Amino acid sequence: MSQLNKFKRYTITSALPYANGPLHIGHLAGAYLPADIFVRYLRLMKKDVVYICGSDEHGAAITIKAKKEGTTPQAIIDKYHKQIKDSFEEFGISFDIYHRTSSAIHHDLSQEFFLNLYEKGEFIEKYSEQYYDEDFDQFLADRYITGTCPVCSYDKAYGDQCENCGTSLNPTDLIDPISTLSSKKPILKPTKHWYLPLDKYQPWLEKWIDEKEGEWKVNVFGQCRSWLKSGLQPRSMTRDLDWGIDVPLEEAKGKKLYVWMDAPIGYISATKQWAIDKGKDWQKYWKKQANTEDDACLMHFIGKDNIVFHCIIFPAILKAHGDYILPQNVPANEFLNLEGDKLSTSRNHAVWLHEYLQELPGKQDELRYVLTSILPETSDSEFTWKDYQARVNNELVAILGNYVNRVMILMHKFYEGKVESDTPTIKLTDANLDKEIGNYYDELGKNLESYRFRQALQSVMDIARLGNRYLTEQEPWKTIKSDPAAAKAALHNSLILIGHLATCLQPFLPATAIKIFGMLNVDAVTFDQEIEFANGHQLNAAALLFEKVEDEVIDIQIQKLADKKKASAVVQQPIITPAKANITFDHFVGMDIRTGTILTAEKVAKTKKLLKLTIDTGIDERTVVSGIAEHYEPEAIIGKQVSILVNLEPREIKGIMSQGMILMAENAEGKLSFVAPAIDMPNGSVIR
Ligand code: 2FM
Ligand code: ZN
Repeated sequence: MSQLNKFKRYTITSALPYANGPLHIGHLAGAYLPADIFVRYLRLMKKDVVYICGSDEHGAAITIKAKKEGTTPQAIIDKYHKQIKDSFEEFGISFDIYHRTSSAIHHDLSQEFFLNLYEKGEFIEKYSEQYYDEDFDQFLADRYITGTCPVCSYDKAYGDQCENCGTSLNPTDLIDPISTLSSKKPILKPTKHWYLPLDKYQPWLEKWIDEKEGEWKVNVFGQCRSWLKSGLQPRSMTRDLDWGIDVPLEEAKGKKLYVWMDAPIGYISATKQWAIDKGKDWQKYWKKQANTEDDACLMHFIGKDNIVFHCIIFPAILKAHGDYILPQNVPANEFLNLEGDKLSTSRNHAVWLHEYLQELPGKQDELRYVLTSILPETSDSEFTWKDYQARVNNELVAILGNYVNRVMILMHKFYEGKVESDTPTIKLTDANLDKEIGNYYDELGKNLESYRFRQALQSVMDIARLGNRYLTEQEPWKTIKSDPAAAKAALHNSLILIGHLATCLQPFLPATAIKIFGMLNVDAVTFDQEIEFANGHQLNAAALLFEKVEDEVIDIQIQKLADKKKASAVVQQPIITPAKANITFDHFVGMDIRTGTILTAEKVAKTKKLLKLTIDTGIDERTVVSGIAEHYEPEAIIGKQVSILVNLEPREIKGIMSQGMILMAENAEGKLSFVAPAIDMPNGSVIR
């Protein structure tokens, strides 16, 4: 394993989901499926790996949900912890432990961390004015305050973020703030909190992040750089809340730890629990060892909205503590969209995992396959039911399932499913086949180790394609009469190939791999082993691996989404701008519009509207100044795919040479949105 090989141990985490609602396909594609594939691969390489996850059970997300459902936070976390855990299990996400942050072991460790930093004098103690609801006699968490967004005028923005334009906010930024508890205007009241001085860590973080250039994914690296460029501010590690972990200080009675301080510590407390259960030493997976070569390799799989917490805040906490290792990599994914729209829990625009399991029972690997094929690895991607149907029917059924089935049927038809040979075990007798399979293994390893899971899956499917091709060329159904030895050799070679196929499928489609091993009547193997078919080996009966998805099945799903959309639609009456005068076709073709990806984004000093962007246009990397600063936070758009007019005359804007123009859609209210292809396209693709 390339540069990963130097580690003796691996600690792999997936973001702890909030136990305040069910999981949807976006969760799976963001932080769980890629991690599970990676971990299963490490295990097949016989690595010492622990895969950690659990429910994030603190923070305002939980109490708000409890309020909505008219119940207690405890009832909410119990309900959703179980539902989430069950869904993960059903989809074969192979955590070594799925823990909870409400556990005593986690509360203890989080308080220990806080005290460790407190005793070292790491915190700044500061009074600040915060919103307070006088009727309810309590300070308000950011999410408990709504008001008008100062950027886009959306009137239901939260105190921490506007969900309409994506801007991160402070509660005091909101115009006309309202408490969601009493629906009244809150007052400002001073309160004391303990702040982690992130600004103090800035030089260290800059150096540490800089070392990751080229190694970390561009979207992750770019977002970190952008945060650092904007300058880090002290962040409060305590909150005035009544749900969470008590701040372990006499003078902080009634205050709780900031959820983003305790949640990542949840990875460590979960590992501690796992170690107790399994008789292991958790410190080997988290603490610096006497010899740095003995340190574990820590990796966090997350969605892009969690980058700052895992790449800046948590590393600063670990560094402040001093005993802990830091993440080697944080291969964050972008977002998955659904049928042309953002996935949204509040608008119920989602494919929920528990519903999928009920409505399409037994088809977990089909969803794993489709989601892996479209993972938002480098930019946002899109799930559609038509695409789901096409991939299952044209790839899983027609290529993979069909190949295994053809070989199994012929083995049963000609030899009653018995492997008979002159040698004690059958060997691959086709040197080309051997070489090609070897190449696919190499490609698979390379792709997985660089977090290109989509491509890695294609390398495995290429083995199935190779098998189909080989069978078609050999035509054992013909040679069985003219040259029976050749027919037998072709089918035996095919069996060996299916053995390799099942081996490589394990990280991606674990249930399918087990089914194939079952049909072959062999045990599962790791990557350093080969399946052996001894003379006289009896195969089991052939069974279909996948069935075709009929139109009716997906039509129901498409209709269901449309119905939900209608139910939650806000009636909008856009004012349509009148059409412009006609232009000639030549004018149109004269415009060179291409797809590109935003690599970096930063505010242009002393302007309100301008962002300076670096765009990968496929042709080059260039600077474009764009008037979108009031609509997008720079760090939120790194990695976004856009359309860019590349042959616009360069012009100087605020002393910066801008080379091109980003295309934006603008509605009647002046809200802007990027114009991007519906599916991921290589940068430089021509738009015409
Ligand atoms: O964004 C979220 O869903 C958070 N609950 C993720 C927490 S990840 C980690 F730090 F625990
Ligand atoms: Zn807004």
